[in-house]
Amino acid sequence: MSGRLGAERVDYRGGLEDEDAPAAPLPLLTRWIEEAVARSASAGDVPEPTSIAVATVDAHGAPDVRVVLMRDLDERGPCFYTHLTSDKGRQIEGDDRVAVALTWPAMYRAVRLRGRAELLPRDQVEAYFRSRPWGSRVGAHASDQSRPLAGRPVLEAAFADAARRFPDTGSPDDVPLPDGWGGYRVVADRVELWAGRPSRLHDRIVWERTGDGGLDDPAVWRRSRLMP
Ligand SMILES: Cc1cc2nc3c(=O)[nH]c(=O)nc-3n(C[C@H](O)[C@H](O)[C@H](O)COP(=O)(O)O)c2cc1C
Repeated sequence: MSGRLGAERVDYRGGLEDEDAPAAPLPLLTRWIEEAVARSASAGDVPEPTSIAVATVDAHGAPDVRVVLMRDLDERGPCFYTHLTSDKGRQIEGDDRVAVALTWPAMYRAVRLRGRAELLPRDQVEAYFRSRPWGSRVGAHASDQSRPLAGRPVLEAAFADAARRFPDTGSPDDVPLPDGWGGYRVVADRVELWAGRPSRLHDRIVWERTGDGGLDDPAVWRRSRLMP
């Protein structure tokens, strides 16, 4: 075996014309996400259309990366929810610089963001936590994310214990929000939308922040095109 992956070559179709790229990135980013979510529901070839890879840096300056779900997006940036005491949480606490990558291969589209992670306010976290199914809320109590686990039975026993403490009553209030559970907003200072084209002549449009303001504010973004 040579170790070469993907020997079959596919010419990407799609593209992103200058006139379709707004002065601020949010409208197009939102449209792409909506199109990916719609395609996920119809064609089924775009699984988990809001999953994003979030890269962080550890205490030694080494990069780390993992996939999470983007749950909210507005002009302030995309949000994700997680255990604050996880590896990612500790890394962000030490260095709030993050990078995000998102790809929908079936649509020949990708998104990259660079910026800083900001802790979400507790009321927003509480509102999201209450919207989760009972099992996911209990699971948040059972897991000390990223810490070593002696074996699966230990996790299942922790889940059973939390399930006994917080039985399912059908109410969003039956499981309290764990202290160590929360979320982050990625406040971007650079956004890139990538669209595949034949002969690897892909489109890359980049928005770079020039001042304070939202992802929808044309006054704070400088747009440019990069070579593929
Ligand atoms: C599709 C997908 C979605 C995920 N969504 C989340 C999420 O929203 N929040 C989360 O904490 N972990 C999520 N995970 C698990 C993370 O990838 C990761 O294993 C976990 O957060 C621990 O990462 P850390 O040790 O770097 O903190 C998801 C994994 C996959 C594959």
